[in-house]
Order: sequence, then structure tokens, then C-alpha cells
Amino acid sequence: MRSQSERTPGIIYLSGSDLLAHSDRWYAEVEAATRGSEHLLTKTRAELEPAARAGLVTIAIDTTEDNRVVGCIVLWELERNEGVMWYELGTFLVVPDHRFKARGPKAMPIGDFLTRHLLEEHAGRHIMCTTDNPAAAHTFVRDGMRVVSFHDLPSSIHGATCICPLSKTGTSTNRSCRLKNGPCHAFVSYNTWERMGCPDSPDMG
Ligand SMILES: CC(C)(COP(=O)(O)OP(=O)(O)OC[C@H]1O[C@@H](n2cnc3c(N)ncnc32)[C@H](O)[C@@H]1OP(=O)(O)O)[C@@H](O)C(=O)NCCC(=O)NCCS
Repeated sequence: MRSQSERTPGIIYLSGSDLLAHSDRWYAEVEAATRGSEHLLTKTRAELEPAARAGLVTIAIDTTEDNRVVGCIVLWELERNEGVMWYELGTFLVVPDHRFKARGPKAMPIGDFLTRHLLEEHAGRHIMCTTDNPAAAHTFVRDGMRVVSFHDLPSSIHGATCICPLSKTGTSTNRSCRLKNGPCHAFVSYNTWERMGCPDSPDMG
């Protein structure tokens, strides 16, 4: 799929076969961007390529800057629960000089477009994510995701998503991590939230 928005002039969004047909320079650009961010796990071509072939990657490129990658979002297979695959939204980034706040009167909601694009393209899937970055959390709320308690996730999904290292959580038993439900929050897509029975949202503080 190839899309654009009049709210993000010059930016093109590529996924599926259109992404695979694009120059494969993007793998190195996404890897470099993830390597440079404290909020992201580094993702190499070995991990990105199967996800792209499965149609689970969307990138944003700036056609006014030699098609440089300026954003990315990926659905990663997380874990099956009762036979259904749950996916984790991740590798979500907008490069610093294209972030909304960095562009003053030329602000472009690239992060919002990427999020909505992914949620619409994969509306039938079970989608969740976690973040302790308020900018990402605000994006997810703006784009219709629901914050849920980690404890309302199916147990296997809760266990699969909570893999932060001891150096971050201060505990070797991630079930009792004190970062959960503030400052770290779990989000699910609206459709997933309905399938979960519409659980109450914890206070985001
Ligand atoms: C998360 C990220 C993709 C969002 O990028 P972005 O959409 O361009 O937004 P910014 O980071 O510029 O957002 C900062 C501020 O701009 C404003 N803003 C952003 N998008 C906006 C929009 N569409 N409308 C109005 N204001 C907006 C908000 O004031 C926001 O501050 P707030 O979070 O306190 O509300 C980007 O910050 C990033 O790449 N961060 C590093 C990686 C990361 O943390 N990824 C998430 C892991 S789950």
C-alpha cells in the first residue's frame, strides 16, 4: 500500500508490496534510528525483513529529501492466546527533525498518520503495545487506542510483553514490576478492547 495525506506534504507511506518494491536502503535507516533511541529496541534487517514480507511494516519517507526514512511503525508477532495471535505495535518512531514539536508552524502529524494507517490496515488483528514515553502514549490515545491495566491482559500476553531488563524494572519478577500502570502503560486497539469486554481504563495520572 502507498498512501499520502495533505496534512503531511511530501511524505509518502509505504507498506506491503509497495514497501518491498522500494529501495532496500530503508532497512539500514530504520536500524540506525532505532539504535539511537532510548525508547526503542534496536531492529536489524534480519528482524525487519520477515515482518515487511508479512505486510506488518509501514515506513514514512520524505520525497523532498531524497526519500529519506522519517518514520516507521511495525506490528510484531507477540504470542498466541487461545489460538489467536496477538501483535505488539512497536518500532514506532519519527526522526527528531520531523517530529511534530520540532517543526513549528510546519508541524506534520506523521506519528498520528503512521498509527492510524497501521490500525486501519490491521483492524481485524489483536493489537497491543506498552510505552513509558508520554509523547507516544498521547499519540495512541489521540488515535483511538484504549489504555488498559496490564492485569486485564490475558496472562500469556502480559508475560510476553513484560520483558524489560532488571536494570530498568528493579525486579527479576516482571509480574511485580512497579512501573506498570504508571509510568509504563499498556494500550490496545479499540477493536481489541471491545473483544476484551471493554475493561475500565486505569488512571493515567
Ligand atoms: C513517539 C513519537 C513517534 C511521536 O512523534 P510525533 O508524532 O512527531 O510527536 P512529538 O514527539 O513531536 O510529540 C511531542 C508534542 O508535540 C505535540 N503533538 C504531536 N503530535 C501532535 C498532533 N498530531 N496534534 C497536536 N499536537 C501534537 C504534542 O504537544 C506533543 O506533546 P505531548 O505528548 O505532551 O502531547 C516520537 O516522539 C519518537 O520517535 N520518539 C522516540 C521513539 C519512541 O519513544 N517511540 C515510541 C515507543 S512505543
